Amino acid sequence: MIFEPYSIKQVTFPNRILRSSVGGRTAGYDGVVGSTWKNFEKRFADGGVGGIISTTFNVNRFRKSPLEYPPISEDIYVAPLRKAIAEIKSTGCRYIIQLGDPGYAAQVSLFPEPQDSHSSSDGFDLIYGYTDRRTAMSEEDIWQAVRDFGDAAERVQATGADGVEVTASKGYLIHQFLNPGFNRRRDAWGGSVERRFRFLDEVVREVRGRVGPDYLFGIRLAAEDYNWLPINLRLPFVFPPRHYFQGNRLKETLAYGRRLKVLGVDYLNIDSGFGFIHPRVTPGPFPVEEARIFYDTARHLGRKASWRAALLHALPIPVSRSLLGVGWKYQEAINLDYAAVFRQEVGLPVIANGGFQRRETIEGALRDGKCDLVAMARALIANPDLVRTFEAGGNEPEVPCTFCNRCAARTASSPLGCYEPARFPSSAAMQEQILAWNRGDD
Ligand SMILES: Cc1cc2nc3c(=O)[nH]c(=O)nc-3n(C[C@H](O)[C@H](O)[C@H](O)COP(=O)(O)O)c2cc1C
Repeated sequence: MIFEPYSIKQVTFPNRILRSSVGGRTAGYDGVVGSTWKNFEKRFADGGVGGIISTTFNVNRFRKSPLEYPPISEDIYVAPLRKAIAEIKSTGCRYIIQLGDPGYAAQVSLFPEPQDSHSSSDGFDLIYGYTDRRTAMSEEDIWQAVRDFGDAAERVQATGADGVEVTASKGYLIHQFLNPGFNRRRDAWGGSVERRFRFLDEVVREVRGRVGPDYLFGIRLAAEDYNWLPINLRLPFVFPPRHYFQGNRLKETLAYGRRLKVLGVDYLNIDSGFGFIHPRVTPGPFPVEEARIFYDTARHLGRKASWRAALLHALPIPVSRSLLGVGWKYQEAINLDYAAVFRQEVGLPVIANGGFQRRETIEGALRDGKCDLVAMARALIANPDLVRTFEAGGNEPEVPCTFCNRCAARTASSPLGCYEPARFPSSAAMQEQILAWNRGDD
């Protein structure tokens, strides 16, 4: 089934494998994409994936962080994207642009920016975001954020991309409104399951209104939030405790899924977990050394960021690994059962996301009707020709991805590529691969 085409609306994917959203420092300092970005994305299209879901393109023109991640918050970004996407699509691969707003989860910035603390409610989070506190958005801020998504969606259409996906997952702004552990508002934007959904509801109406009824439009949604993972310090404590420790459970998110269908969303991209990196989003071990590198890059931005980096360096690596590594474990196809429930209960096409690499597992998932498409990130970063391997009858690559999570923790500070030393004969070979991935020639 992997090689059976699949259509949603007018978009036909030549096979069932998508490159999942992969963000990194692939654009210029101004965020404009050039040949490095195009070469990076096209490598997967050349490797035979049926479609690509882009990095999370930032819709807010002030929250530009991290530098060199491509945003789509202004018109200047459209023409270069249009040129690059045309080349990527010339391979037959479909291209979907994912939109997002990190809210307080903006991880790095050139200078500290007040808008990088924006969220549904006030609070403190040790692991995510660099600002000392997250701050509640005003009514005006919220409506501006809704319009940002609409403006960005119009730009997506102008790039010639086949569709638009909005992330309501990953602990980003929409997720910060959905999640009862974060959204403690008592106004029209919080306080009940329905009111927590209102921000996403408005974003979906705005985006659909701007792109028209026929344009492919999906939502990335976390099936369960797992707020207790990874081990973190978050304030204030929220009552009832299940909101603090669990966040949304399936009951609530399925209700969201049904509402999204009524609102005219075309597909759901299902994962779980609140935040990035997160043991449910990127199942595998906690990458201590890379986390140190990452936190170092943000330490100049505020007191919290500085203490956090100092703390991680003060703890010996084996201690951090066992303490902070609680719950970090690779699990194959980690969100597949959630995907199946959404497919069954909501009745929209579903993309399953997280921990795929073996052909047998993907074939089984499709054959059993648990999902319609499978998205992969790390396995394809390690082996961009994986789909060709499957085509030739292979079940997994010769040198598989180990799901070490080094690439995921490196992404905001280093060029994208595979950082697993065990997969290369030497460090020079690993470096060569990383630099080859980030070629700037046309
Ligand atoms: C280097 C890297 C960058 C990522 N960037 C994004 C991103 O920009 N937006 C997003 O929604 N997910 C992002 N993800 C998450 C992936 O899309 C995917 O959901 C996750 O890695 C689990 O899939 P996998 O097990 O196939 O890697 C990223 C993952 C990696 C490894």
